[in-house]
Amino acid sequence: MSDLHGKVAFITGAAHGQGRAVALALAREGVHIVAFDLAKPLAYPGYALGSESELDSLKREAEAMGVSCLIAQGDVRRDADIKRAVDEAVGTLGRIDILFNNAGICAYGLVHELPEEEWDAMLDINLKGAWLVAKRVIPVMMAQKSGVILNNSSIAGLRGKNRLSHYAASKWGLVGLTKSWAIELAPYTIRVNSIHPTGVNTPMNDGLAELEGTTTQEIAERSAGNLLPVPWVEPEDVSAMVLFLVSDKARYVTGSQFVLDAGLLTR
Ligand SMILES: NC(=O)c1ccc[n+]([C@@H]2O[C@H](COP(=O)([O-])OP(=O)(O)OC[C@H]3O[C@@H](n4cnc5c(N)ncnc54)[C@H](O)[C@@H]3O)[C@@H](O)[C@H]2O)c1
Repeated sequence: MSDLHGKVAFITGAAHGQGRAVALALAREGVHIVAFDLAKPLAYPGYALGSESELDSLKREAEAMGVSCLIAQGDVRRDADIKRAVDEAVGTLGRIDILFNNAGICAYGLVHELPEEEWDAMLDINLKGAWLVAKRVIPVMMAQKSGVILNNSSIAGLRGKNRLSHYAASKWGLVGLTKSWAIELAPYTIRVNSIHPTGVNTPMNDGLAELEGTTTQEIAERSAGNLLPVPWVEPEDVSAMVLFLVSDKARYVTGSQFVLDAGLLTR
């Protein structure tokens, strides 16, 4: 039996894309899921985010694998939403072993034209949101004297990206949080790492294509540079790395950045 069996994972941005894929991969290992998602549209970035029906179908799919799945609709920018979800998770499932800070948005904008509201929304969701969620989950993990936090950054958290300076800033910020939290939380046996995928085949890229009036293939080619001959990786490829990092196999891995980029950063 997997060492993950019976654990509880709190996943943000779980309705679709990478968060959903990780939720299902963990459920398959016997992990109970708390699926936190806004599940409604936002004026910015303006493309389709997760939906209530996706959360409902995630719950059905996870429960069919024999685990509990709590649905928590909320915004990572709202402490009241996060507190309600964390309280419900602990009240119902008793603990939180894994936090996957994954909710995020992306949109293009030239540095000198970017409206201040777009900068704020990007940083508030991608960076401050990760902190607000961790702030509520960490005391639960401290009391347990165990836990794993995984922040979903990007290759944009390790390099620059054209017309994505606000996105890159938020993703580099996650590296700072990862390293600092790893230092603070090591005495409680709480591990903290970040992952850095290249383009992943999720609704986010369809959304970017829609905003840019182009195709998803063109979006992939624009940031092309993978050494391996693939336009992007699949969410399941990233989930495989996540499964390792949150498991006891990685019990001495903390404060580190894990790249899954099909060779892109080697160029
Ligand atoms: N897709 C890629 O190419 C790629 C590459 C590297 C890193 N990432 C990162 O992976 C993470 C997941 O991205 P994805 O590709 O699955 O995106 P996605 O748009 O397909 O899914 C994001 C999910 O987050 C939710 N969400 C957005 N804002 C939220 C908020 N304020 N509060 C709660 N939930 C919110 C959405 O409803 C949606 O379900 C993001 O942090 C993204 O930056 C994506």
